[in-house]
Amino acid sequence: MSDRKIIAVVGATGAQGGGLVQAILKDAQGGFAVRAITRDASSAKAQALAQRGAQVVAADLNDEASLVKALAGVHGAYFVTNFWEHFSPEKEQAHARNLVAAAKHAGLKHVIWSTLEDTRKWVPLSDDRMPTLMGKFKVPHFDAKGEANAYFTAAGVPTTFLLTSFYWDNLIHFGMGPKPGPEGRLAFTLPMADRKLAGIAAEDIGKCAYGIFRKGAETIGKTIGIAGEHLTGAQMAAALAKALGREVVYNAVTPEQYRGFGFPGAEDLGNMFQFYSEFEDYFCGARSLDVSRALNPELQSFSDWLARNGQRIPLA
Ligand SMILES: NC(=O)c1ccc[n+]([C@@H]2O[C@H](COP(=O)([O-])OP(=O)(O)OC[C@H]3O[C@@H](n4cnc5c(N)ncnc54)[C@H](OP(=O)(O)O)[C@@H]3O)[C@@H](O)[C@H]2O)c1
Repeated sequence: MSDRKIIAVVGATGAQGGGLVQAILKDAQGGFAVRAITRDASSAKAQALAQRGAQVVAADLNDEASLVKALAGVHGAYFVTNFWEHFSPEKEQAHARNLVAAAKHAGLKHVIWSTLEDTRKWVPLSDDRMPTLMGKFKVPHFDAKGEANAYFTAAGVPTTFLLTSFYWDNLIHFGMGPKPGPEGRLAFTLPMADRKLAGIAAEDIGKCAYGIFRKGAETIGKTIGIAGEHLTGAQMAAALAKALGREVVYNAVTPEQYRGFGFPGAEDLGNMFQFYSEFEDYFCGARSLDVSRALNPELQSFSDWLARNGQRIPLA
């Protein structure tokens, strides 16, 4: 263990970090050990990671001192913040600041910051194609992360900026799967007309991150975008129909209709899909499938993901 480089993983009990923890544990000869960071080291998920061989250390993104302790002695770290727990871009940025300060204090050699675009660089607040949200954002959960990139650069933390994609797992966990329509057919709703969505199996984010740690120094200072496939809503509906053995139609609503759906975060997501769709060339271009596959040779397509997970999608 002592000659292995330790990677600390924030969000180790979650989707992104969990994939990275599993990738490191699975590659016993890979030269890395893993430290899982969680707020509750006694939780069932944390205990399961400990049983598989991860060091489990308690820390809270709200508490810089706890992060400093948790990062002591590690080579590198994976940092992700969870907007959806509090819906506050300011809080997400405070978490990023604490992570940067702790990384600096611990003298980390390599950080991966799980980030997204600051969409205001493409759609300034004055552009009324989509509403400004929370006073100063277009897509709050994107913009907060993108703006926080500069904290890492300004502090001189050796960072790889990882641009993630839409998880297909949202069809299971985020209520985005197909739903029965009036004629009993399943309808898959996205506000993306005929544009392509860059999607990925959530666990592949962690596997790609592992590939980045393995590459090491050459990735520092770079922005790397990842996706498993770029598909239109119609193509996703067709793949769903094949996997589920039922008719699935693509229900292409407008971003405005989507923003009006009323669930928590609907406006943020409506703006996000509008951004994906109106800047499709940029967005998919920044998330190369070849780069993703080189980092993670097990990269799943949507059909691969459906073959393993399709039956877990709630259809009611
Ligand atoms: N859904 C998507 O399609 C998508 C796509 C791209 C990016 N994202 C971004 O992904 C982020 C969420 O990541 P995820 O999906 O991997 O999360 P997740 O599966 O919901 O799990 C959240 C993780 O964050 C940890 N966490 C939350 N608050 C914490 C705190 N205060 N201190 C320490 N750890 C904390 C939790 O650890 P414990 O509970 O064990 O403490 C847990 O491991 C969001 O910001 C979202 O914007 C999502």
